[in-house]
Amino acid sequence: MLDPLASPYTPGDIATFTPGRERQTAALERSLVGVAGRQHFEGRIQVVQGARGVGKTSLLRAVERTATALGLSTAFVTASPGATLAPLADLLAHRMQQLSPMPLTEQFKHAVSRVGLRLGPAEVALDVRAASALPSAVSSLKQVVTAVAGATQATNRGLVIFIDELQDADPSEIRVLATAWQELQAEVHAAGAAALPAALMAAGLSSTQERVTEGASFAERFRFETVTNLPENAATAALFQPALEAGVIWESEALEIVLTRSGGYPYFVQLYGHEVWLSRERRSGDRIDLDDARSGVAAADEQVELFYRGRWNRATAAERRVLATIARSGLEEMSRAELAAALGMHSNDLSVARAALLGKGLLAVPRRGVLALNAPGFGQFILDETDGDPQFA
Ligand SMILES: Nc1ncnc2c1ncn2[C@@H]1O[C@H](COP(=O)(O)OP(=O)(O)OP(=O)(O)O)[C@@H](O)[C@H]1O
Ligand SMILES: [Mg+2]
Repeated sequence: MLDPLASPYTPGDIATFTPGRERQTAALERSLVGVAGRQHFEGRIQVVQGARGVGKTSLLRAVERTATALGLSTAFVTASPGATLAPLADLLAHRMQQLSPMPLTEQFKHAVSRVGLRLGPAEVALDVRAASALPSAVSSLKQVVTAVAGATQATNRGLVIFIDELQDADPSEIRVLATAWQELQAEVHAAGAAALPAALMAAGLSSTQERVTEGASFAERFRFETVTNLPENAATAALFQPALEAGVIWESEALEIVLTRSGGYPYFVQLYGHEVWLSRERRSGDRIDLDDARSGVAAADEQVELFYRGRWNRATAAERRVLATIARSGLEEMSRAELAAALGMHSNDLSVARAALLGKGLLAVPRRGVLALNAPGFGQFILDETDGDPQFA
């Protein structure tokens, strides 16, 4: 039973209702069905990428729920520098324990301990030990995945691994994953090989594809899906439906304002929806009208201002110049070359600031080769902030 007063919106939390993501969800779920139904090994690592707050984790979690409903075993980890594979291996060991009544073999435990490169920060930076540890990590990961996927077959299902924030994983760890997955794929196709029901899905910021393809030709082993802001019909559903389920109707003028203010950016959709909900609650009606919307929007605007400021403060002086140049162009998006020309620099000299801004989630790559400010209204905030400042003239 829904608490009629609790807000059905989730600013900053995982959304369980993810309209507008049907295409991406269907693509990932097709793989799940292949794993569960045909004991298929999904050889491509599928990555959902997009800007901060656009709904990647929510999407991955939704697919995880489907996997569980299909009876698949799942392992969900969040990557971080120097610690992606070790936590994954530990989680897989935990799954193994759940799947098999037998105690873990020494051989399996040994493999688990060798998956994570377990590097210190200096080694991460130099990537030294990574190179020598690589073959052992690859074969250990293969062993662990094969054992766990094999154990799931007792129930005739399979294993799905999810890795969030993939852009934060070290290149060496990404290399281990990609190599292991490729070798498993080759082995599955060998004559007489046993089935290996498994898939690997990930999510990351817009910089993920570049991170993954950095220095090595892994591109063909991955399939990238980009998620961007919600189209109007999906943002409408995200606002309207949760309210309806709680017995509350949005009047169209109220909905219109919130759709305009949030610009389809999923985090803003939730934030504005939530604040409007709270302002309605104070009047406790079963409709959301224009007055509710106006006062809720004013409350949310204040938080959005802080949100922009937080982002702006995270940018260095050089990065702010890049952001201000895009804001001043008046364009929705700019190609790398256009941006470099506007900054009066060579395209290559832009790389450092660009990579940092993508990593911080301040810039997004809506399509290949183009850049855009992330979050609607951020451009106007930057214009106001830099107005009259000679540094940005
Ligand atoms: N399809 C959707 N429709 C409406 N709101 C959504 C949708 N997907 C996610 N959200 C909301 O958007 C916000 C961001 O979601 P989420 O954390 O999944 O994004 P993310 O891309 O993983 O963000 P980050 O880059 O910070 O990790 C949350 O408030 C969430 O409730
Ligand atoms: Mg996330």
